[in-house]
Amino acid sequence: SDVDRLIRELPKVELHVHLEGAMRPAILLELAEKHDVATVPRSLDGVREWYEFRDFPHFIEVYLTSMQTLRDEADFALLTADVAARLAAQRVSYAELHVSLYAHLMRGIPAQVVFDGIEHARREAEREHGIQLRWIPDFPGDYGVETGEQTLEAVLKEGPPSVVGFGVGSVEVSRAPFADLFARARAAGLRSLPHAGENGGPERITEALDLLRAERIGHGIDCVREPALVDRLRATGVPLDVCPTSNVCTGAVERIEDHPLPRMLRDGLTVSVNSDDPPMFGTDLENEYRVAYGLGMEAAELATLARNGVTASYLDEPGKRSLI
Ligand code: HPA
Ligand code: ZN
Repeated sequence: SDVDRLIRELPKVELHVHLEGAMRPAILLELAEKHDVATVPRSLDGVREWYEFRDFPHFIEVYLTSMQTLRDEADFALLTADVAARLAAQRVSYAELHVSLYAHLMRGIPAQVVFDGIEHARREAEREHGIQLRWIPDFPGDYGVETGEQTLEAVLKEGPPSVVGFGVGSVEVSRAPFADLFARARAAGLRSLPHAGENGGPERITEALDLLRAERIGHGIDCVREPALVDRLRATGVPLDVCPTSNVCTGAVERIEDHPLPRMLRDGLTVSVNSDDPPMFGTDLENEYRVAYGLGMEAAELATLARNGVTASYLDEPGKRSLI
C-alpha cells in the first residue's frame, strides 16, 4: 500500500533499541549451540514460546538469561553485525543502541571484550551498509547505584568515541540515587539517556529531568498521567523515545488501542517511534510505524515521527540535514 511504501522510503533513524534485546532467535540458537548454554531454549519453537512475557519483570528475566549466550568478542561482533544488517534493510542509516554493559560485567566479561566486539562490527557495518551505529552503555537501576558506578568506570576507561550516552534501565526504581553518577557521566561528555516513565509513573520522568538532567527520555509514556509534566516536556522540547509494541508486550500498556503515542505527538511532544527489543516483541522499526498508522496517525504524522528521531539523535549536523 501507499503507507507501506511511505514507511519503507522514509529516511529513518532508530534511537531506542537494545543490542542484546535485538538478538534474533537464529542468533540465540547459534550461540547457545556454540557455547552449549543450558539455560536458554534450543529450538525455534522453544525460543518463540520463551519470548511470551507474563509481565515486565518476567521480560527482564528472559532478557538477562538470553545474554548468557554472549561470551567472547566474536559473539558480540556476530550479534552487532546481524542487528546492523536488519536495520540497514529497513533504510535505517543511523542508530543509537543501548548496550547492557553491566549485565556482561557481572558475568565476568571484561568491558574490553564487549567494546572490541561491537566496535569491530560497527566499523564493518558502516563500510558494508553505510549505516552509522552509536552506543549507549547502561546498567539495571534495580541493581543499585554501585552497579552504575562500575559501569560508568568501565565506559570511561575502555569506552570508544562512538559511545554517545549513558543509560539506566531494567525494572524501574527511583532515579534519585543516580544523580551524582549521571553528573559524572555528563561531565565526561556523555549524554544523560535514562529510561523513565515506562511503567514507573510520571515521578520517574520528573526525577530524570531534575536530577539526571536527562537529554532524552526512554519511553516516558507515563507523562500523560500528569498534564503539568506534559506542558514541561513540550516547553523544554526534551524528546521521548516511544516504543509502542514493547509497551504492550511488557504490560506497560494494556491494549495497543490505548497507546498514548498519537496523543503525545498531538500534544506537541517531540516523540519518535522505536523498536526497543524487536525480535523479543515480534516487531521491527518499520512495523512500529505501521502500528502508529494503525493507531490513527496520518502519513504526515509518520513523517513527523521520523523527523523527530533525526532531530533527537546525536548525529552530526550535516548528517541530520541530509535526512530531514
Ligand atoms: N526497559 C527497561 N530496560 C530494558 C528494556 C526496557 O524496555 N529493554 C531492555 N532493557
Ligand atoms: Zn529500552
